[in-house]
Amino acid sequence: MKKYVILISGRGSNMEALLAADLPGECAAVISNRPDAAGLAFARQQGVATAVVDHRDYPERAAFDAALAAEIERHAPDLVLLAGFMRVLGDHFVRRLTGRMLNIHPSLLPAFPGLHTHRAALAAGVRIHGCTVHFVTPALDSGPIVIQAAVPVLDGDDETTLATRVLMQEHVIYPQAAAWFLQGRLRLLNGRVVSDVPQPAGAVL
Ligand code: GAR
Repeated sequence: MKKYVILISGRGSNMEALLAADLPGECAAVISNRPDAAGLAFARQQGVATAVVDHRDYPERAAFDAALAAEIERHAPDLVLLAGFMRVLGDHFVRRLTGRMLNIHPSLLPAFPGLHTHRAALAAGVRIHGCTVHFVTPALDSGPIVIQAAVPVLDGDDETTLATRVLMQEHVIYPQAAAWFLQGRLRLLNGRVVSDVPQPAGAVL
């Protein structure tokens, strides 16, 4: 059976959605860079192994990346799922895992990379917003896109209402993308997404 690990930094609602999805694989571990990440308790309750690699123990990013990579590789995962993991990962780390690491980002990339995506979407006045699952490459939030979901921006939305609407879709598309990967229906080849998923399955409108 294929194995995956999930990396979190906080609440872990995407991790919960992944664990609830009965993916065709085994969750070998949930790893956090923060010992107080709320999602760790939920993972333990589910009987999933957890580990913490606290970034504050490593003054240099390269040392943190190396410790995190060692913890991940200990589980020999086929897939690494970044689920609200809020540390920027160095090029070397990302290259080691390219093609077997996915991320969920709360915007319709390439719009609104980085932090505070809902605030940025409201400030820009867009009428459609959403979320993206993509393969992770060294450039932040710009790896090849696997699936996106769109939601309307409604009059009267604030960051909280918009984030809630987007998050509901994150919980749909991330398990979907992870399942495709674990089923061997999705991979990265020469920097491009190759999949046998019928179009337009990569879009949720
Ligand atoms: C999610 O909205 C996820 O898309 C976002 O953080 C939130 C984590 O929530 N990730 C990023 O912004 C990554 N740059 P969760 O811990 O409840 O899954």
